[in-house]
Amino acid sequence: MTLTEKQKEKVDSLLKEMTLDEKIGQMNLESTSILGAFGIPLAEIRKMAKDGRLTREEIEEMMDNTDCDYHEDEVREGRLGAIIASDPRRANETQRIAVEESRLKIPLIFGYDVIHGMRTVYPIALAEAGSFDDELFEETARMAAKESRAYGVMWDFAPMIDVARDARWGRVSEGPGEDPYLASRFAERKIRGLQNDRSDTQNYVAACTKHYVAYGACEGGRDYNTTSMAVSQLYNVYLPPFRAAMAEGAASAMASFNDLNGVPCTANSYTLRDILKDELALGGFAVSDANGIKECIVHGYAEDSADAVIKSVNAGLDMDMGSHLYSKELKSAVESGAVSLSAIDDAVRRILSVKVWLGLFEHPYVPEEVIESYEKGLPAEHIALARKAAQESIVLLKNENSVLPLNRTQKICLVGSLAGNAEEIVGSWAMGWKKRDCVSVLDGFKNAGAKVQYFPCCGPEGEMNEDELSSALEYGDVIVAVVGETRDMSGEASSKADITLPGRQREMLERLLETGKPVVAVLMNGRPLALKWESEKIPAIVEAWQLGIQMGNAVADVLLGDVAPSGRLASSFPMVNGQCPVYYNHPNTGRPAGMSRFSSKYIDEETFILYPFGYGLSYTEFKYSDLCVDEKADQLEMSVMLKNIGSANGTEVAQLYIRDVAASLVRPVKELKGYKRITLKAGEEKKVSFSLKKQDMGFYDNNGKYVLEDGLFRIFVGGNSRDTLMQEITVEF
Ligand code: BGC
Repeated sequence: MTLTEKQKEKVDSLLKEMTLDEKIGQMNLESTSILGAFGIPLAEIRKMAKDGRLTREEIEEMMDNTDCDYHEDEVREGRLGAIIASDPRRANETQRIAVEESRLKIPLIFGYDVIHGMRTVYPIALAEAGSFDDELFEETARMAAKESRAYGVMWDFAPMIDVARDARWGRVSEGPGEDPYLASRFAERKIRGLQNDRSDTQNYVAACTKHYVAYGACEGGRDYNTTSMAVSQLYNVYLPPFRAAMAEGAASAMASFNDLNGVPCTANSYTLRDILKDELALGGFAVSDANGIKECIVHGYAEDSADAVIKSVNAGLDMDMGSHLYSKELKSAVESGAVSLSAIDDAVRRILSVKVWLGLFEHPYVPEEVIESYEKGLPAEHIALARKAAQESIVLLKNENSVLPLNRTQKICLVGSLAGNAEEIVGSWAMGWKKRDCVSVLDGFKNAGAKVQYFPCCGPEGEMNEDELSSALEYGDVIVAVVGETRDMSGEASSKADITLPGRQREMLERLLETGKPVVAVLMNGRPLALKWESEKIPAIVEAWQLGIQMGNAVADVLLGDVAPSGRLASSFPMVNGQCPVYYNHPNTGRPAGMSRFSSKYIDEETFILYPFGYGLSYTEFKYSDLCVDEKADQLEMSVMLKNIGSANGTEVAQLYIRDVAASLVRPVKELKGYKRITLKAGEEKKVSFSLKKQDMGFYDNNGKYVLEDGLFRIFVGGNSRDTLMQEITVEF
């Protein structure tokens, strides 16, 4: 995000004209509040919607009779600078009040959670990251930005780039998984996709990277929980995606709910001022998460509202999301001298800079023809991209006796209530989707012309329908069971202590296996699951995540063999609950898990990762050989021969890892440093090359200083983080 001299002058001249109240107004973000009520409290309505007492249609009808309060009076009086909303016509109307009726005519910025698409919902981030496809990361973000604008949103609360290693945390679904390198590539491409298409003001948005910072390290995987770690851990694991996003010019960042080493990230001057603004050079502004400022009191970090505001603003938090406390307390804090005017000016300058950079002063409105075009339906290219993204995100975990791919002559017995559901496929934080755009797995098979009969039987919640199950046991040549989680079992406030298949789904699988027919489990879920039993009993397992609106078509494409599975895991799968957290890039202990009792393991369960990071099969097999490592002045050059040794075409994700064998701080047993998607015909062989800058082989110490230490390194190349070829090399920097 770079401003021209003229744009900077515009910001300065506005600042000079603003009263303190107007400045504070710019630092205030509100969400639309619902007016008109329903005669029933909102929380109860939410419950009724969840437990089925209200259908989606009934909810839609209720919503038609209600209205949203866009805080028009506050906008007119310059007391509000930003709104969370996604109705383009209401946005235009409220924007008109801001740019015509407020004293300084400063446009509003509208923000929204466009995490994995707006109306075109793409796969959840955890799934998309597993495509290891940088171009795809960028392209889905570019399309999401365009659609956001059509909905009146020019500030996307995305990308969510929390490195997360504990599958119990519901929010693993929203981010790119456990690895800082992959998460950084994901972050950088998302920022480019969201922000860089400047060919038209309707094509780009301001990104809001989140949640800053270390939210993914919440203790025990429990949402909102405390985090505590050494500086080196913060710098090596949790900061890299934010560093990458800031280097691409990310326009804003959202402070996370957690405290880090005792200081809530909302009011943490070390992370906000010292690191985010000074070191990573955030060009735009920092916003709290919802109600974050008020929660500093609950944390026990601020005595009261005034104290929370003073601590937050002085720490460098520029905008208040939803606690209303900047508007209530900030003026007196400035008047008493607890907050300096220059801190306020810095915050407002940052916020105005983003508004100017977005072109809002010249183009405040969503053009009517853009709104209408999306009302008509989705552009074909967005649907095609959603299908491609979904295909590339599917991970084949097991395929005993080549059960897959299926062929069109086989009669498919499709079971599991998730299979016929066109709503669960969108996953958490899907906001603008329409049911009519969504393709269930059942519809996907039908569209593909497969011979399919559907028996819902049971799902993640509720009872088993014995009649349906009896009929299912009688039908078909092959059973495809879609099992997993509902969309609200992951995402915010959805941490789980038990991450095995919920409800009676395992029992259903057992009964299906008794038929002796081949069973394919298609998993639809928003986190890694503990699948020890399934991995032992089920012959074929496909991790299909929540793939967005084209899920059904993509699953049919892959299961019927029209498209080869090519996704890989961005997050390791544990065998059992008690193993969490598991991740491949852990430091070694002095006693790594082994046969001896006195090694780092559990005495009652396995310690090994079930499916490791980077893992995924294809309908063919790939063989790696001849790893060569060549040292040049500033970089290492690696090459390996990769051969498709099976009888089908396929796409492999070749992965480069390193290990710093001995260092002044213990380094991970493996660290991803590069990847390439390679498509090979059956029998084809190719040389795959990687180059690694020596500069990228270092790490941060406990002072946050990047160090490069001479010595022995291991270089690994392979198709996942476990099965690799290895060469050693001594490197001098
Ligand atoms: C979430 C954020 C989100 C915000 C606004 C919060 O509860 O933690 O990720 O952007 O709400 O919707």
